[in-house]
Amino acid sequence: MEKKQLQAEKLPRHIAIIMDGNGRWAQQRHLPRIMGHRKGIEAVREVVRECRQLGIGVLTLYAFSTENWRRPKAEIRALMALLKKFIRSEMLELHQNNIRVTMIGDLSKLPGDVMPAVREIMDVTAHNTGMTLNVALSYSGRDDILRAVRRLVAERGRKAAEITEELFSSCLDTAGQPDPDLLIRTSGELRVSNFLLWQIAYSELYITDVLWPDFGKKDLAKALRDYQTRRRRFGLTDEQMRTG
Ligand code: IPE
Ligand code: IPE
Ligand code: MG
Repeated sequence: MEKKQLQAEKLPRHIAIIMDGNGRWAQQRHLPRIMGHRKGIEAVREVVRECRQLGIGVLTLYAFSTENWRRPKAEIRALMALLKKFIRSEMLELHQNNIRVTMIGDLSKLPGDVMPAVREIMDVTAHNTGMTLNVALSYSGRDDILRAVRRLVAERGRKAAEITEELFSSCLDTAGQPDPDLLIRTSGELRVSNFLLWQIAYSELYITDVLWPDFGKKDLAKALRDYQTRRRRFGLTDEQMRTG
């Protein structure tokens, strides 16, 4: 079958990815789970490069959920160490490629020794304009929403009647960014696992059985081609879409 080209004018502005399946990838090879996470970093590198090349505006990667804090201590420690290592090894390339890196989630829960690296990469890349890479760490959609509500009430002193969708969105971790057009989940699970709950209201979903460490630019292209066949109606009828 001939490989269908991507239509540049129909690319998503924002892609969100639930990077799942690192543990299973390792298990299949009789390796410790952490080896799957390590290999997963290579997939991150490839997908970030590819999205930047394609001109995607925002890429959001789900790296660690609030629920993941309940995993075994040793796995959490290893994941945090990998995160620090990733920041160190990738910061220069990300910066040179004009990528702004923001870490979203409840960063106050992160261990103290991880925070300096997290702050540094956000500060160094803060003014970059080529692409925004959100890394969701200690993130959950419900927590994002709760923190937004607290901000609206406690910091901005807003009254109930003043709260609009726009104002509410501006208090979420993804403030100022378009909502994801495409949500990808690897390793076949048919759920959203507390990811961007508010923001994915009208996202197109793409779920693949490929495990995250095996996910590469070919798989991304496949997801994008699939996305480009979707008819996004946003509640309207087909007739309205044709004549609108
Ligand atoms: C995703 O891979 C990475 C994190 C949640 C940190 P998993 O570690 O969940 O891999 P599986 O689902 O056990 O295969
Ligand atoms: C979702 O994966 C979180 C991340 C990819 C960081 P999980 O492996 O934690 O999700 P569940 O537990 O299968 O729903
Ligand atoms: Mg998992």
